[in-house]
Amino acid sequence: MSLELHDVYKTFRDNGPETPALAGVSFDVPTGDFAVLIGPSGSGKSTICNLITGLIRPDRGHVVVDGAVIDGVPGQVGYMPQRDLLLPWRTVLENVVLGPEIAGRSRAEALDRAREMLPIFGLERFANAYPAALSGGMRQRAALLRTFLLQRQTLVLDEPFGALDALTRRELQDWLLDVWARFRPTILFITHDVREAVLLADRVIVLTARPGRVHLQQTIALPRPRDDSSEAFTRTQIDLLRTLESLPRSV
Ligand SMILES: Nc1ncnc2c1ncn2[C@@H]1O[C@H](COP(=O)(O)OP(=O)(O)O)[C@@H](O)[C@H]1O
Ligand SMILES: [Mg+2]
Repeated sequence: MSLELHDVYKTFRDNGPETPALAGVSFDVPTGDFAVLIGPSGSGKSTICNLITGLIRPDRGHVVVDGAVIDGVPGQVGYMPQRDLLLPWRTVLENVVLGPEIAGRSRAEALDRAREMLPIFGLERFANAYPAALSGGMRQRAALLRTFLLQRQTLVLDEPFGALDALTRRELQDWLLDVWARFRPTILFITHDVREAVLLADRVIVLTARPGRVHLQQTIALPRPRDDSSEAFTRTQIDLLRTLESLPRSV
């Protein structure tokens, strides 16, 4: 499933003054690619996620998933919001089958598939644990498994590792790359961490400060698995950092 944004505009008008969040955003992510969207705070990254998931509609322009326009039509992509939103009164297993359950699919089938996937997500010992008993990393794995079990070929992950400590974050980055290599979903991954972008991306899409536009797109040609202590990695990281630092801040 490919993902395309065509000249998308979005202005928020709900409270007080108008906030133009996006002003003509276009990019595409080919099927099976790992794209990273990076930009200053307030540049419209989460707004782009909400448009792609169909939670909000563009004022102008179109969002296209696998050739079909989905402006304002939810349910075409798997989405992991910035906060994990696990339900505290449900066990890990019950949480991860929530998506299929809400979509009206067979609970028994969803449970079977979840049990199969738990080991891949390193969660087999936690199937019957409640979210409060899990570490931050485990919670994010559970939230990601819930997103995977929607069985969408396109995944939108909004800063999934932003709140984790450096070690856990590193571990989950490697693990996400393994899962991606194994199932090859199309991924749009949001971050404001340059190192993370260079480690993960086939292509980095850099947004300007608000209102967001695509400032540049950069292919990361480093071979995988990537060695983040190599000179080439460091050079790529510094180049990207300079690009970001040259952008004006949003006010
Ligand atoms: N529902 C909303 N109502 C009004 N303003 C909003 C709403 N959602 C986002 N915004 C504004 O749009 C801009 C982009 O927000 P967002 O997409 O969350 O940026 P990012 O995720 O890159 O930090 C910000 O200025 C934010 O305050
Ligand atoms: Mg955001």
